[in-house]
Amino acid sequence: GPRFPQVVVLFGATGDLAKRKLLPGLFHLATAGFIPGCRIVGVSLDEIDAEQFRALARRALDEFGTRPVVAKDWEAFSATLDYVKLSDGPAALRAAVEAAEAALGSECRRLHYLSVPPSAALPAVRMLGEAGLVEASRIVMEKPFGTDLASAVALNAKLHEVFAEEQIFRIDHFLGKEPAQNILAFRFANGLFEPIWNRNFIDHVQIDVPETLGLGQRAGFYEQTGAYRDMVVTHLFQILAFVAMEPPTALEPTPISEEKNKVFRSMLEIQPHDVVRGQYAGYRAEAGVDPESETETFIALKCFIDNWRWAGVPFFLRTGKRMAEGQRIISIAFREPPKSMFPASSGVGAQGPNHLTFDLADASKMSLSFYGKRPGPGMRLDKLSLQFAMNDTGLIGDVLEAYERLILDAMRGDRTLFTTAEGIERLWAISQPLLDAPPPVRLYPVDSWGPKSVHQLIAPHAWRLPF
Ligand code: BG6
Repeated sequence: GPRFPQVVVLFGATGDLAKRKLLPGLFHLATAGFIPGCRIVGVSLDEIDAEQFRALARRALDEFGTRPVVAKDWEAFSATLDYVKLSDGPAALRAAVEAAEAALGSECRRLHYLSVPPSAALPAVRMLGEAGLVEASRIVMEKPFGTDLASAVALNAKLHEVFAEEQIFRIDHFLGKEPAQNILAFRFANGLFEPIWNRNFIDHVQIDVPETLGLGQRAGFYEQTGAYRDMVVTHLFQILAFVAMEPPTALEPTPISEEKNKVFRSMLEIQPHDVVRGQYAGYRAEAGVDPESETETFIALKCFIDNWRWAGVPFFLRTGKRMAEGQRIISIAFREPPKSMFPASSGVGAQGPNHLTFDLADASKMSLSFYGKRPGPGMRLDKLSLQFAMNDTGLIGDVLEAYERLILDAMRGDRTLFTTAEGIERLWAISQPLLDAPPPVRLYPVDSWGPKSVHQLIAPHAWRLPF
């Protein structure tokens, strides 16, 4: 854990992410002893007081926490919560932080967490500057970082007027998921897979993250954002980099970022004709949504990494809200054998190619599918699979949720699992043709796999999901 007690200034303290992940996560880190001391100053537009903020935090822990809340832990934690309204201004914020530091007693560090939409990020940064809360501080920025290349460049420039790059932690919680890190272990700690991890053996890659969730209370955020900015330009591309990057020279922040950024540099621009945008039926009637909204709640696309390893291998990405299932998978489809001695009637190839599939659910799962002989006379083939589930191994570490892991890393100053300004700007640059000329949104029924054209996008292949 971090060496120093931490004062967390949480912007967007009453928002969806704070309630779902950040407050329960900080509660766990603080009560399980990962941090030597911690106090939280919530900040938001809401005109509430510290007592109401504590009540909100309590409800959040009960509703979204993954562990039971013990009364004495709650008492200790709630006593560390304070609240400042944005309208109170920088002086009030500074006073609250100083009070928190005084209560912690010894030398402290500050972690400013900006859990706010893109339009509110800079005002928060300016407020921190005016409050003189820059020294001994790190700042965690939530995605999406800007909304296009120009705004991302402007955001980075403005950020640097207040904070130095070493202080800035751009969070992408998918990289904090255990199974995401396990991709690196799987690829680079084994001699078996890396030799076939290229265009000579791999036909295509799918990164598929359908969600059953709808909008919840997030219309304000989501209407400005949409599925591409919310999920693809952030999480899905970051995961793609873990799948596609060259072996880094060391498992350190700089070499890892360099290799990821090389992947982003080699990516071709996203072409609108390689994209399917969808919107679930009924979205326009949701509270807070424009009745003529063109915001996409679904996106599927084909993209290419034009380098030595991956030239010509399509990467298919898909994600959406209110879909038939919640899944987070990466599936590597291998090439067919060069020649088949099996007659078509044996069933060879009928169930698609060999797949290596990673499941990014909470505990790693993987499977490798292959054809094998069905018992009995003759030669009938069936698709079989080797399955791995971390939960079956008995290996239990200090299981941290993705956000908990990353908050702790930021407090320690470890940026291995954080993204970089350069990488993000490049991702916006390759997105520009799509952002400039987005194809029209197509309606899809709730509980489906998206608009029909999603099948044409991937043809002659097929989506791995549903299993
Ligand atoms: C968030 C997006 O970053 O990730 C949400 O803003 C999405 O729209 C969520 O639902 C998915 O995260 P997870 O960890 O539940 O897969």
